[in-house]
Amino acid sequence: MSLLEVAGIAGGYGEADILRGIDLRIEPGEIVTVAGTNGAGKSTLIKAIMGLVPRCRGRVVFDGRDLLSLDPEDRVGIGIGYVPQVANVFGTLSVLDNLRVVEGVAGRAARIRDMLDRFPALAERRHVAARALSGGERQQLAFARALMSRPKLLLLDEPTAALSPNLVGQVFALIATLPGHSAAALLIEQRARQSLAISNRGYILDSGRVVLEGPAPELLGDERMARLYLGGG
Ligand SMILES: Nc1ncnc2c1ncn2[C@@H]1O[C@H](COP(=O)(O)OP(=O)(O)OP(=O)(O)O)[C@@H](O)[C@H]1O
Ligand SMILES: [Mg+2]
Repeated sequence: MSLLEVAGIAGGYGEADILRGIDLRIEPGEIVTVAGTNGAGKSTLIKAIMGLVPRCRGRVVFDGRDLLSLDPEDRVGIGIGYVPQVANVFGTLSVLDNLRVVEGVAGRAARIRDMLDRFPALAERRHVAARALSGGERQQLAFARALMSRPKLLLLDEPTAALSPNLVGQVFALIATLPGHSAAALLIEQRARQSLAISNRGYILDSGRVVLEGPAPELLGDERMARLYLGGG
């Protein structure tokens, strides 16, 4: 059974459908890239999985449970972590407090220690306000927050978008370690080439539909893919 199965999901924020019938699956421990042009509906797809799109039809099954009937908070509770594209940490709170305020975490103190072990830069800066962190540190904090509840699936919306080029590789390396910690990842990326390089499979969205999908090596070798979607990254 797939960890996540999205079938025929469609909907949007107002009258018009942004998502127009998307099928996608993620197996346990897989990293899956979703790429595509600006406005294709990538962030909306993740928001639909999290229950943040007001009008949404189709089927989303996670770990054998139908998600569309659950509130966003309850989706986190059953093992989905979400790192939004923007505003993914509380700027005025310290690093430590950003970890303390994550809801629905069992064994909180031990989890915080785990995260500080895993992210030494955060341990060093644990009393610093998050807004004073560098872009890479802030991204680590956003990850640490999402990992606090030991998710089986992490939804990452352009985690490298705001980073300087020398930090991009570090964040991809961090993502590549997730399967070793029993977490699968759905990774939205403009840097499709680098993202596919650490992924098992990929999907390319255009205007709310999947226009290409397949194993990552196949997509990296696909001529149409290279021409239309692999540009710079
Ligand atoms: N909260 C919202 N209310 C209304 N329309 C929205 C909202 N969020 C996104 N949209 C619209 O939905 C469409 C898809 O947006 P989405 O953010 O999913 O694209 P994206 O693929 O993530 O793009 P990008 O690469 O720029 O992040 C766009 O036309 C956008 O203007
Ligand atoms: Mg987006």
